[in-house]
Amino acid sequence: MPIIAPSMLSADFTRLGAEIEMINTSEADWFHLDVMDGRFVPNITFGMPIIAAMKKTAAKPFDVHLMIVEPEKYFEAFAKAGADILSVHLEASPHLHRNLQAIKALGMKAGVAINPHSPISLLADLIEDIDVVCMMSVNPGFGGQKFIPQTLRKIQELKQMITNAGANTLIEIDGGVTLDNAATIVAAGADVLVAGNTVFSSSNPHNTIKLLKQVGK
Ligand code: DX5
Ligand code: ZN
Repeated sequence: MPIIAPSMLSADFTRLGAEIEMINTSEADWFHLDVMDGRFVPNITFGMPIIAAMKKTAAKPFDVHLMIVEPEKYFEAFAKAGADILSVHLEASPHLHRNLQAIKALGMKAGVAINPHSPISLLADLIEDIDVVCMMSVNPGFGGQKFIPQTLRKIQELKQMITNAGANTLIEIDGGVTLDNAATIVAAGADVLVAGNTVFSSSNPHNTIKLLKQVGK
């Protein structure tokens, strides 16, 4: 059964409390929170104050996906705001190994997000140190985009790398996950499915989460 991480980027922010409650009472496992700075990606979303406010009523772990330059400046602030898993982009981290150590030293799980154009092989020398690889299956910046099909072979390659290394790294797929492609993505080796548009544009989000959860069973 995959871990399901609804992306709150697609939630209705005018009723954020109700959306959090919907996730709390659903079969979802994590909250996926997309932080964008208008520099690493061409969009700006939300930051620490919103995350800290959400933390007051959210009953599941916070999976925070940083799409920002110089992410290391804010690790402590995101830890304080309530991040349980903190992912930095490979492409925004000239010192990725140092970033992973710093995130773990603050008591969080360390994730690496990787853009569609970046080869998986760049992760080979530190795969044992990565708790979650957040593999982008769209170009980061916006919800509701179409899944890039080449991601499937990248998932297989990453799965092989993790198995060969005897690592416990989770493979998270982020972007364009739907009820139609989820089974193929899980069959390729994904452990975690992020879903924004699919969950929040559904007329029955609880049931959509349930259906995603049942994938590959
Ligand atoms: C994209 C974000 C994703 C996105 C997923 O930059 O990282 O988490 O919100 O949304 P959907 O599932 O709608 O593609
Ligand atoms: Zn994301």
